[in-house]
Amino acid sequence: MAGGRWNASYDSVLNVLPTYRGAEWRRLTLTRAGPILPCPLHLELGMGISVYPVTLAFAAEVGDIDLSQPLDAANVEAVKQAFWTYSVLVFPDQHLTVSQHLAFVRYFGPHETTIAAYRGDEALRLPAEIADVSNIAPDEKIWGRESRVRMYQLGNRLWHTDSSFKRLPALASMLYARSIAPIGGHTEFADCRAAYDALSQAMQRRITGLVAEHSIFNSRARMGFTDFSDHERRVLPPVPQVLARTIPQNGRRSIYLASHIGRIFGLSDAEAKSLVDELLAHTTQRQFVYTHRWRLHDLVMWDNRCTMHRGTDFDDLRWRRDVQRATVSDIAPTCEQEGIQVAA
Ligand SMILES: [Fe+2]
Repeated sequence: MAGGRWNASYDSVLNVLPTYRGAEWRRLTLTRAGPILPCPLHLELGMGISVYPVTLAFAAEVGDIDLSQPLDAANVEAVKQAFWTYSVLVFPDQHLTVSQHLAFVRYFGPHETTIAAYRGDEALRLPAEIADVSNIAPDEKIWGRESRVRMYQLGNRLWHTDSSFKRLPALASMLYARSIAPIGGHTEFADCRAAYDALSQAMQRRITGLVAEHSIFNSRARMGFTDFSDHERRVLPPVPQVLARTIPQNGRRSIYLASHIGRIFGLSDAEAKSLVDELLAHTTQRQFVYTHRWRLHDLVMWDNRCTMHRGTDFDDLRWRRDVQRATVSDIAPTCEQEGIQVAA
């Protein structure tokens, strides 16, 4: 059954979601009566992968797939279809080397170089193609209280989307857990497509065509960290990004937002701050948020074009949390994708 609509009621779906898959699911959608709703599971799955919704239309777990092995074209397509349908995919119990992690990224596009390579303030523990989101120093010990990298990474506790401070932002991130904290250290994700749909039409019109300036130094300044070198400011200048965008693979509109935003072109600073604060508050209401509680060897993949995320608190001076991110670059700057010209 193609076409993306189904006729099962919310209650019946929530009751049976964990137990249905593949053809069984499609039969269910054909036989239940109820309101017409968009169906997140009308996927022609590849050779045996399983997609289990965690939320109705935002996050799903993917099983029966081994990311350490080369994927055939059908399975790559099945993962992509699930990814465009949801925005957050969880692949449990994966056992990956760094090169296998990077090989998975390449099915989706070219990978990024970590911002730490731009900063150049500390030796890299991992290859430059991997963003080290751990609390571990290059000597493999947990970082110190005064570590500059620690100050930098505390900005990840703010809602953001990856690399929106780069001219070419991130399309997808794949974060892999090699060790986790026993308590805390979750990752929260906000569904910016659903949040856009829930805006008033007046607000949808207002943000369409607006362009914001993103800088990594804005989010760090919010955390009270402003000690940046001239070199860092030179290699990471502010960049323009649209405030609302369309996701080409599914046609959905989305808010595009991050704590990296400073000014908005055409608005006063006060108007811009008020609008950004309002959109952040709206988008991060609990009904739009999925909290991922990490299990060892989870790989979690999210669409940076239509989600925000943030790390939650944990005792980072006590627990070793080794999470490593490989990142797919978007295909073009967001203004270019939306057909908006911005004065340099
Ligand atoms: Fe991030």
